[in-house]
Amino acid sequence: MNQHDSTDLRTRIAAALETSRRRTLGLTDCLDEDGLKAQHSPLMSPLVWDLAHIGNQEELWLVRDAGGRAAIRPDLDHLYDAFQHPRADRPALPLLDPEPARGYLRQVREQALEVLDGTALDPDGPPLLAEGFVFGMIAQHEQQHDETMLATHQLRQGPAVLDAPAPPAAPADAAALPTEVLVPAGPFTMGTSTDPWALDNERPAHTVELPGYWLDTTPVTNAAYQEFIADGGYRDPRWWTPAGLRHREQAGLSAPLFWQLDGDTWLRRRFGRTEPVPGDEPVVHVCWYEADAYARWAGRRLPSEAEWEKAARLDPATGRSRRYPWGDQEPTAEHANLGQRHLQPAPAGSYPLGSAPSGARQLIGDVWEWTGSDFAPYPGFNAFPYKEYSEVFFGPDYKVLRGGAFGVDPVACRGTFRNWDYPIRRQIFSGFRTARDAAPSELG
Ligand SMILES: [Fe+2]
Repeated sequence: MNQHDSTDLRTRIAAALETSRRRTLGLTDCLDEDGLKAQHSPLMSPLVWDLAHIGNQEELWLVRDAGGRAAIRPDLDHLYDAFQHPRADRPALPLLDPEPARGYLRQVREQALEVLDGTALDPDGPPLLAEGFVFGMIAQHEQQHDETMLATHQLRQGPAVLDAPAPPAAPADAAALPTEVLVPAGPFTMGTSTDPWALDNERPAHTVELPGYWLDTTPVTNAAYQEFIADGGYRDPRWWTPAGLRHREQAGLSAPLFWQLDGDTWLRRRFGRTEPVPGDEPVVHVCWYEADAYARWAGRRLPSEAEWEKAARLDPATGRSRRYPWGDQEPTAEHANLGQRHLQPAPAGSYPLGSAPSGARQLIGDVWEWTGSDFAPYPGFNAFPYKEYSEVFFGPDYKVLRGGAFGVDPVACRGTFRNWDYPIRRQIFSGFRTARDAAPSELG
């Protein structure tokens, strides 16, 4: 790496850290001390836990590990270790109050930026530092907590405190788009071995051969989902797996989370405001079992994770897998609904400049998309930099989600990025699209 590249990389890292911090503060400065210390849902931490946890991870990885410096607050390590304390137990811990937590974050950041200035980031240096990996990992970590904190805001009762402009209206061609696009049979490169900030579970690149399939052009909309509800989809056992059926009964599922029926109009609560459900937006806050049941009702299925990634990355003209559906260029406001710019999905068919070569839209941004796949390691997987990042989650308990949502920052979103959660979870910004096998006659 020459001097120019390294200056450029340091500038990009500092900007990514700054963006995440601005968002963290925006999501926490808007609530008073009680609001930050309260647990708004047993599924979530009090926001003040996330706040100091962000600082503690930054201290562990950037100040102590990358910088080789003395610990700032070793007494905090056990309090903010996510593996030692389940979320439901965190309010009872002797946590830092909001003001000391903010002071701790400032102190850690000051040292982290000094470390950044004094550390070599050569591509052939130690893997943790090469091309700034550990700095990228920490920027992504903070952004992932910013997304979690946004989900806590959505669960919080009380008056609205967050505001953002609505996404642009659907483009003129949205209504005329074909409902599904064809992805022809053939191999593609899944995962990456070269993306410098890709996490361990996205690696290594490997070839996957898939038969041809059809994929929905856009995520499933609220209007389509309401047809499933109106047709008795929740009550019809034909559409549910045995585990899904059990969960539907136990949890009393009858509509997406945050929906309620007012007469015959569906309303939803969104960040403290109640409004009619917009028919043309992708459905959000459904669990995997609901997505799977809808797909069966529609005579279709969820796409596998490989099908999702092939549709999002393969450029048939070159045979190469790209970073995003539109190419390798970083996402802009013209490509995708990311970065908490809007606090809701954009209408289905939006972002024509973000289309994949197949014509599929909104694969990146708007809503996380459930896939039919369990979270599993790629062939040749190596845990890095620690086993708890991914490896302990591999197995049939977790389903993979792809593509990021409006609450996800571009730094933590790319065609290879993998998210995972339990199939019952729906406080996350989760939607889906459906697929079906292509018949030989359709493959031309
Ligand atoms: Fe964390």
